[in-house]
Amino acid sequence: MAVEVREVEEADVEVVLMLLGQLSDSPAEACSPVDVRRTWQKIRRQHGRTLLVATVDGTPAGTADVTIVPNFTHGCRPWAIVENVVVDRRQRRRGVGRALLADIIRRAHDNGCYKVQLLSNRRRTEAHVFYRSLGFETTAEGFRLYL
Ligand SMILES: CC(C)(COP(=O)(O)OP(=O)(O)OC[C@H]1O[C@@H](n2cnc3c(N)ncnc32)[C@H](O)[C@@H]1OP(=O)(O)O)[C@@H](O)C(=O)NCCC(=O)NCCS
Repeated sequence: MAVEVREVEEADVEVVLMLLGQLSDSPAEACSPVDVRRTWQKIRRQHGRTLLVATVDGTPAGTADVTIVPNFTHGCRPWAIVENVVVDRRQRRRGVGRALLADIIRRAHDNGCYKVQLLSNRRRTEAHVFYRSLGFETTAEGFRLYL
C-alpha cells in the first residue's frame, strides 16, 4: 500500500468535497457548483494556503488544509494553521492521516514556522489520540465564536 501526499489540483476538487463530507456524521451543508468554483479559485490564489490530498495506491483517501501565516513575533517566524483534516472512512488506521500531518509539518519547517497549530472539537476524542500520537499537545484553551 503506497500512501502519497500532494497538492490538490482542480480535478481533485470533487473528491475533496466528498472527503470533507465525512468530517462529520451529520449531513454537511452543500455548496452550489458556482460557489465551489469561486471558492476553489480563491483558495488556489491565496498566498501561503495549500490544500493537500493523500492517495492510497493512487486513489484519493484523505485531505487537509494548511496555511502559513506571516507573523511579527518570534523573530518574524510564521506559524502554520491546519484545518479540515479527514481520511476516508474505508482507509482509516492505515497511516493516511499521519502522512498528511507529516507533510504539513515538513512544509512548516521548510517555511521557518515556529509552530503548527490546530483546533479540534472536544467531542473528537479519537482525533485527539491521533494528534497526540504525532506530538501535538493541548497547551492552550481554544475559543471560537460561531457566526
Ligand atoms: C482523525 C483521522 C484524520 C486520523 O486519520 P487516520 O488515517 O485514520 O490516522 P493514522 O492511521 O495515520 O493514525 C496514526 C496514529 O494515530 C492514532 N489514531 C488514529 N486514529 C485513531 C483512533 N480512532 N483511535 C485511537 N488512536 C488513533 C494511532 O496512534 C495511530 O497509529 P497506529 O494506527 O499505528 O496505532 C481520521 O480518523 C478521521 O478522518 N476522522 C474523522 C474526521 C476527524 O475527526 N478529523 C479531525 C478533525 S480535527
